[in-house]
Amino acid sequence: MATEETLVLIKPDGVARGLTGAILARIEAKGYSLVDIRLVEPTRERLAQHYAEHEGKPFYEPLLEFMMSGPSVAIRLAGNRVIEGFRSLAGTTDPTTAAPGTIRGDFGRDWGVAVQQNLVHGSDSPESAQRELGIWF
Ligand code: PPS
Repeated sequence: MATEETLVLIKPDGVARGLTGAILARIEAKGYSLVDIRLVEPTRERLAQHYAEHEGKPFYEPLLEFMMSGPSVAIRLAGNRVIEGFRSLAGTTDPTTAAPGTIRGDFGRDWGVAVQQNLVHGSDSPESAQRELGIWF
């Protein structure tokens, strides 16, 4: 089986709260390989490319503003079935109800602000992973 790759982002809330190390530790403990990693301060143009499929949704503008609020960490991550494996590690989108034991479930909550701060992003399919890796690396 060919080793798969995915794009992981540690979003601005994860970096600002000093959780980069804790999140990386979970990824490494799971056994995935860091192929490349960089601190990024994305432009609106790059984020518009990344989130193109969500343009027009109510959360689109707040999401872009949030993603421009501080640096993120972009990771090229590799391993067999890493796309579904990382999404399982991350937990479901809403951190309030994400399962304990997941990154979002253990470190995330509702902070009472309009935008949902859920710490990490992981590509949702092989096609998305290739597209997103091309945007960030
Ligand atoms: S959808 O419409 O079902 O495709 O949306 P979903 O997969 O749940 O989320 C897509 C991305 O948008 C983010 N999102 C939000 N961000 C900020 N605020 C709100 N309210 C919000 N709702 C959804 C969600 O975290 C997904 O971003 P990524 O970076 O892929 O995790």
